Amino acid sequence: MEGKGARQMDRIQRKLTLAALFLVCLLSACQMDTAIEKNPGKAIPAGKVQGEEDGKKPIKIGFSMDTLLEERWLKDRDLFKEAIEELGAEVEIMAANGNDAVQISQAETLIKQRVDLLVVVPHNAEATASIVKKAHEAGIKVISYDRLVKNADIDLYISFDNEKVGELQAKAITKLVPKGKYVYIGGAITDHNAHLFKRGVFNVLQPLIDKGDIQIVYDQWSRDWTPANAFVNMEEALKANQNQIDAVIEANDATAGGAIQALAVQGLAGKIPVAGQDAELAAAQRIIRGTQTMTVYKPIGTLTKEAAELAVRIAKGEQVETTRKINNGKIEVPSVLLSPIAVDKHNMDSTIIADGFHSRDEVYK
Ligand code: GAL
Repeated sequence: MEGKGARQMDRIQRKLTLAALFLVCLLSACQMDTAIEKNPGKAIPAGKVQGEEDGKKPIKIGFSMDTLLEERWLKDRDLFKEAIEELGAEVEIMAANGNDAVQISQAETLIKQRVDLLVVVPHNAEATASIVKKAHEAGIKVISYDRLVKNADIDLYISFDNEKVGELQAKAITKLVPKGKYVYIGGAITDHNAHLFKRGVFNVLQPLIDKGDIQIVYDQWSRDWTPANAFVNMEEALKANQNQIDAVIEANDATAGGAIQALAVQGLAGKIPVAGQDAELAAAQRIIRGTQTMTVYKPIGTLTKEAAELAVRIAKGEQVETTRKINNGKIEVPSVLLSPIAVDKHNMDSTIIADGFHSRDEVYK
């Protein structure tokens, strides 16, 4: 009896030890889980995408673009994709070719795909407000990229200091032509940037206009920023003034290209200073050739990198602090504005070429 009792006690003790061991294992596994949840960043080995380890999908950003018809937007598209992927996130890109209805429906598609955040380059500053509303209804935050979406609760705006772009253009041209007849050809009236560029130009010109040194003999917008419309504008300006024009400020390089063609028809290309912006390759080549005076270089790589970082952080739910706020007609939008750089033939090498924005061979071809 005694031997049997002792064996039974032995068995019970062993079972109890096993149960205790099991409990200890279970508890420590639970603790590990909690540690991973509390500190997800640290639990993921380097090189892994956030979310891969715990079975969640990586962050996905939607990029709704106005157009890819200009050189600069191709750079924005490629560099933004690169920057997003470097952060271990994904991006879905759609471009609307300048059509508001298409841009809105593409954005709706991105919202339906449940992107974690939407980045928008609005074709039309006002019409795209509906995209912001729809995204917010779906719990998706929106960043206004390069161009401001007006009258909407956008979460962040990132661009260059666009008023400064206009100021740089006017400063460069008034240095060469302090007195005379000026033509101003603006961008698309539907793009808020076009208004900022113009404001910047007139910040510099107005005191000279008031003094009587400068006369504005032509001042028009160029629909949809196309070189063809700018060509027609420049033709009109030349005709209305019997070719008596001393300087031309164009809102960007694409339209400057159109205007310079119209000047060339009259044998005036290279004889009248012309300003543009964007540092497009064709413009850089024209500057070296002498048919365009200057451009404004906006390092797109910096813009895409900053925008990608902010997009991923906001998509993860992080609070982002900015030093600036810009009023978009509805709210004070937290904003990041980068610095533009004036470029002419004297600093072409130390800016555009040094940065690898264009190669020396291409520019001097
Ligand atoms: C503006 C942009 C410029 C230029 C223009 C035409 O909004 O800031 O860089 O590209 O659109 O697309």
